[in-house]
Amino acid sequence: MIVVDSVTKVYENRGMTVTAVDDVSLTVGSGEIHGILGRSGAGKTTLLRCLNLLERPTSGTITVDGLELVGLSDADLRSARQRIGTVFQHFNLFHARTVSDNIAFPLEITGVGRSERRARVAELLDLVGLTDRANAFPSQLSGGQKQRVGIARALAAHPSVLLCDEATSALDPATTEQILDLIKVVNETTGVTVVLITHESGVVRRICDSAGLMEDGRLVESGRLADLLADPGSRLAEQLIPVGRPTDSEPSVEYILSFRSESATEPVLSHASRELGLDVSILSGSVEQVGGRTAGRLRVALSRPLDGPDHDRFVGFLAAQGVMVSRP
Ligand SMILES: Nc1ncnc2c1ncn2[C@@H]1O[C@H](COP(=O)(O)OP(=O)(O)OP(=O)(O)O)[C@@H](O)[C@H]1O
Ligand SMILES: [Mg+2]
Repeated sequence: MIVVDSVTKVYENRGMTVTAVDDVSLTVGSGEIHGILGRSGAGKTTLLRCLNLLERPTSGTITVDGLELVGLSDADLRSARQRIGTVFQHFNLFHARTVSDNIAFPLEITGVGRSERRARVAELLDLVGLTDRANAFPSQLSGGQKQRVGIARALAAHPSVLLCDEATSALDPATTEQILDLIKVVNETTGVTVVLITHESGVVRRICDSAGLMEDGRLVESGRLADLLADPGSRLAEQLIPVGRPTDSEPSVEYILSFRSESATEPVLSHASRELGLDVSILSGSVEQVGGRTAGRLRVALSRPLDGPDHDRFVGFLAAQGVMVSRP
């Protein structure tokens, strides 16, 4: 488990002050995949680097598996860091080392013996599907293969936390999906807690259990995806499944519907419209697979505004089918 408590990181450069991370608090449960979504400059990398103390927070604390990192001595911090693996956007492989030797590197620096290293590297090569490229050099690999090496190396010392900084941003869409699926498999088979930062909502949609939205150094929203998607006002939900802003000149007939069940929306909506004698038309939104489950957000317009009792019947009928209703 990772507990980030009121972390702030301020950079001072020649009289210029930048608050890259501004009072962020966050808890990531053991074995969860947590995504942090944000635009360029939002402070994502700075926050991630604070998690393993590559960047020392200006204030606040970071606790990983019960151990608070900010107050540790350098020696204790070095050993605590072995519990945290990092995967980078540009892979950061050693070009003069083979795939095997890249993966073995974290084990070498912690003094793991040769035969144990060999056995662990063989296990990791198998896990990431690169057994046949063990003796290749990074320059002989595709981007996706390089990232598989990066993931294997990050996992070498059996970390309990895996940090991924835009791990798929340098890859094409199909390779991105393969690497995300690998991270999911690693998470499921080893139980490693994953924190990934990204500017792509598709990354969060594909593999995250929970997520946060970062803006100007602040974490403006966070929670389990299922809960965020059920909250019609969530800005993160809007990034995951956009329904857009009301454009109609008569917003009084517009509603946002959110649901996370398998409930067949079309029959539910036609049933609701028959009950109330009105037409419901879908203006925007969609039904998607989010974190392996079905979730939907739709913006709909009714053929007439609903008065109090009718409004309550409409909301109540849909709620009974697992569909949450709100006004845009
Ligand atoms: N070493 C530094 N010195 C001064 N300012 C910095 C430093 N590192 C980052 N910043 C500033 O902190 C802010 C957040 O940067 P950060 O790299 O964390 O954003 P990011 O969300 O990772 O962006 P991107 O998506 O482009 O990678 C930016 O304004 C950046 O210019
Ligand atoms: Mg960054």
